[in-house]
Amino acid sequence: MASYDLVVIGTGPGGYVCAIRAAQLGMKVAVVEKNATLGGTCLNVGCMPSKALLHASEMFEEAAHSFAKMGVSVSAPKLDLPAMMTFKQQGIDGNVKGVEFLMKKNKIDVLKGTGKILGAGKVEVSGGGKTEIVETRNIVIATGSDIARLKGIDIDEKRIVSSTGALSLEKVPSSLLIVGAGVIGLELGSVWHRLGAKVTVVEFLDRILPGMDGEVAKQFQRLLEKQGFTFKLGAKVTSVDTSGKTLVAKVEPAAGGAAESIEADVVLVCIGRVPYTEGLGLKEAGVAVDNRGRVEIDSHFSTNVKGIYAIGDVVAGPMLAHKAEDEGVACAEIIAGQAGHVNYDVIPGVVYTTPEVSSVGKTEEDLKQAGVAYTVGKFPFTANGRSKVNQTTDGFVKVLADAKTDRVLGVHIVGREAGEMIHEACVLMEFGGSAEDLARTCHAHPTRSEAIKEAALAVGKRAIHM
Ligand code: FAD
Ligand code: NAI
Repeated sequence: MASYDLVVIGTGPGGYVCAIRAAQLGMKVAVVEKNATLGGTCLNVGCMPSKALLHASEMFEEAAHSFAKMGVSVSAPKLDLPAMMTFKQQGIDGNVKGVEFLMKKNKIDVLKGTGKILGAGKVEVSGGGKTEIVETRNIVIATGSDIARLKGIDIDEKRIVSSTGALSLEKVPSSLLIVGAGVIGLELGSVWHRLGAKVTVVEFLDRILPGMDGEVAKQFQRLLEKQGFTFKLGAKVTSVDTSGKTLVAKVEPAAGGAAESIEADVVLVCIGRVPYTEGLGLKEAGVAVDNRGRVEIDSHFSTNVKGIYAIGDVVAGPMLAHKAEDEGVACAEIIAGQAGHVNYDVIPGVVYTTPEVSSVGKTEEDLKQAGVAYTVGKFPFTANGRSKVNQTTDGFVKVLADAKTDRVLGVHIVGREAGEMIHEACVLMEFGGSAEDLARTCHAHPTRSEAIKEAALAVGKRAIHM
């Protein structure tokens, strides 16, 4: 029987990163993966394919609508959707092969099959008609998450799709109805809208992007509406009639009232994700889960069973790849006897649309609710020189600082490249920096990042270019 220091179940960004860090620390490690390829949701049907399609569709949109005004004259671009899907697949393959390489480089055994925990120290791996049992000192559960479903609406991944189907549609739907104005709805809605679909988004709450700063979400919604999105907020889809050539969705006000019918070629259901623990043997192994099915862990990623840990989407917290990765590193370090740690106050979130939305730390709503006195510094991209010359002036930067200490508590950005720009705020916040620190840091000119410096100056009411 093979024997390891650590067996990680699942090779998403949580699992494979945890395995690499453990190998670096001298452990003998194996990963178990039931999918044909490594990399989990993120690399196969999540972050990476969606970003490939977002990039390609943005180029299509730019070629059609932005080149001419810069004096670049091209004939109207034609969409070759199969080629765009090949571009996406090449990106997936490249990344997945990269993880395989990293497993080999770090001498990590890859056990192909479904992992089942038989108790502390024992994992059964079954797949391809074979079953083997491996012994291990430690187990990390990194089995990720699955799509949340809507009662009575069956996802066939052709006409009624989850994110997985929406990443592989065979043709551009003339109309796309999206249930849920969260990250997936707005990113994949952007892809298909740019390629020609009429997009309607039905959202249960009275706002989009719950959890993000309210002012940012409002401005972002206006920008998406300007692009052509239609939003139906405070509404829910209760059924979808699939009998005709076109789907007919019944949409009701969330608070109750008269229903309306909306026709669509494709319906995308993206109302969140749920932890994935099917077939893992948690009950038999005595591993506790909470009332939402998430594996319960303490501050050291340990479950209630000694030697069994859990990280990533399968535990509480934001379902983000970088959160899973950081937990993977910290968990491996803790298993090795070191002081692994994740700072949950500084986990950035990015929506990779045009413009992008990025956020780190507390929102204004969080601070109001916690009764924290804060000051706000804002700076619009309309006043940023680089944005002006590029004619990409949508959005603004908002810095929230503690009114007494000036410590930066949150930074929120709507604007081009907001996802790249947020990290200077992350570093500042990791070091407990103040708005004054940010304002006195020299920023290269002309960059969009100067808007962050100006927003920090605006906290002290002394922005220069506004
Ligand atoms: P996963 O990536 O879900 O990996 C879990 C792995 O475990 C899977 O490979 C699965 O096959 C395997 N597994 C499960 N059970 C077993 C078993 N019993 N035996 C063996 N193997 C098993 N996050 C971001 O930060 N940025 C983004 O841009 C982003 N975009 C996204 C876009 C989409 C469309 C979706 C759906 C998600 C996106 N996410 C994004 C979220 C991100 O994908 C997840 O947060 C991340 O993948 C979680 O990593 P994980 O390691 O916890 O689990
Ligand atoms: P989400 O939680 O971001 O959004 C779901 C939305 O659906 C919410 O606005 C919610 O109020 C709404 N909703 C729930 N039930 C509804 C109903 N019955 N009718 C109408 N609306 C309803 O979840 P989403 O978009 O499915 O994404 C899942 C996860 O994947 C998220 O946790 C996200 O963090 C992650 N992800 C991250 C990305 C990124 O970092 N760029 C990209 C895509 C996904």
